[in-house]
Amino acid sequence: MAYLQKTLLSTSRIAIRSHFQRRTLPIIVSHRFQRLASTMAPQLKDASLFKKDVCYVNGEWVKAASGKTFEVHDPATGKLIGTCPEFDVKDTENAIAAAESAFEDFRKKTGRQRSKLLRKWYDLMVENAEDLATLITWENGKPLADAKGEVTYAANFFEWFSEEAPRIYGDTIPSSTPENRVWTVKEPVGVCGLITPWNFPAAMVTRKIGPALAAGCTVVCKSPGETPFTSLAIAELAHRAGIPKGVVNIITTMENTPRIGEVMTTHPTIRKISFTGSTPVGKLLMKQCAATIKKLSLELGGNAPFIVFDDADVDLAVAGAITSKFRSSGQTCVCANRIFVQRAIYDEFAEKFAAKVREFKVGNGFEQGTTHGPLIHDRAVNKVEQHVRDAEKKGAKVVVGGQKMPDTGANFFQPTVLTGMTTDMDMASEETFGPVAGLFPFDTEAEVVKIANSTPVGLAGYFFTRDLSRAYRVAEHLEVGMVGVNTGLISDPASPFGGVKESGFGREGSLYGIGEYQVTKMVTYGGIGQHLQK
Ligand code: SIN
Repeated sequence: MAYLQKTLLSTSRIAIRSHFQRRTLPIIVSHRFQRLASTMAPQLKDASLFKKDVCYVNGEWVKAASGKTFEVHDPATGKLIGTCPEFDVKDTENAIAAAESAFEDFRKKTGRQRSKLLRKWYDLMVENAEDLATLITWENGKPLADAKGEVTYAANFFEWFSEEAPRIYGDTIPSSTPENRVWTVKEPVGVCGLITPWNFPAAMVTRKIGPALAAGCTVVCKSPGETPFTSLAIAELAHRAGIPKGVVNIITTMENTPRIGEVMTTHPTIRKISFTGSTPVGKLLMKQCAATIKKLSLELGGNAPFIVFDDADVDLAVAGAITSKFRSSGQTCVCANRIFVQRAIYDEFAEKFAAKVREFKVGNGFEQGTTHGPLIHDRAVNKVEQHVRDAEKKGAKVVVGGQKMPDTGANFFQPTVLTGMTTDMDMASEETFGPVAGLFPFDTEAEVVKIANSTPVGLAGYFFTRDLSRAYRVAEHLEVGMVGVNTGLISDPASPFGGVKESGFGREGSLYGIGEYQVTKMVTYGGIGQHLQK
């Protein structure tokens, strides 16, 4: 977990202040870097990692057949970063054909050979970590320290799956028929279509490609229109690592996203789709996959409950809530969305939590000391604002923040703390995906677990307690795929990541992650007999 703890360095350093100011205070903002950022573009040590106007298909850098491109903007400044190919149906079919023809050879490589390729790719990511982090901050906005943490997190998926690749085992099964012998082998499922989100421009790419390649699959990965440059830099490193042509194909699109999604989900060559994104899009892709019965992994939206019982270590719970709620400015699927605090410690928790949030330094992610960057676009800012106004209208109190930050940039919103939350507010039932923490009071264990589970999604859930029996009980009753007990940070390549209910299915990372890219083939060998021939 060291790499993730490093990611959160900026927030964990913030001291708890002992007093509670009841008025809304402004968040510290830096304007100095805003001025600098308006004149300077970030520099890469290795400029050849910055791939403009090209996608990676069949081991080559290609443009869209139409010649069309789309613009990618820095969410902190609004300035143009560069343009990327607007792939369409035919471009995507070419990438699928490349992956199909590469599959024949790649599936025959031994686990050890695939392991060495992934390991080399991992090494190159580590060597180029600074440049990858620069690209992440530039196109996603997260602070550079967090971006560096993400690169480590991302590279570790390659390391993890390079270690899994040579250890793919089947079973021998005692047959019900004496003359037969039965065994299984794990085979790669085939060509995989991967669709990744903008909130982790590196880690969601490696979390899918790592296990796919370890299993012997080839991939077409559609990177998000908001953050394509990081995945294209990772593709350049694949090339340098010697990944055979056609095994990894990275394509980009903005306007054509629904059409490309349809091609990937309906194309008979693609045997598996892995998608990270919203629940409505996940449902659509699942429907589209039905016609060709593809294997599917869906990592969809969450509405994570974060519960603080009155027997908890309050300072630990505050630190955990800061980590869980404000990581990537609240833009992760596992961010705490509803913070429930037992009534006896509600005021103490609220005071300490708000004091920490007041210490945040919001600004351009490249500026030293920035703890929180912009949101990805103005639609995200508007949704966050709508959640705050709705809560306020229904009786919540804005203790910290609560406003847009137009002087800093169009995509900035003040980290916000709301008290007096009630379950009729939009934030109780919808994922905010932004830097707003709403604190809900509760009285009993049974009551809070019931409310926590009263949503159609179930990705992550967290709670803080020092009572061991309660820890077992509550962990068993929460309807989620992942539980954090006395921690706000659960993401780790070694741990299975995924949800239940409308948060999707399938697990990424861990020993289970590779199974999502395999099929189990059973072989029955008959007529063997049981006795030696005389
Ligand atoms: C996500 O937001 O989808 C991923 C978060 C993580 O890996 O921690």
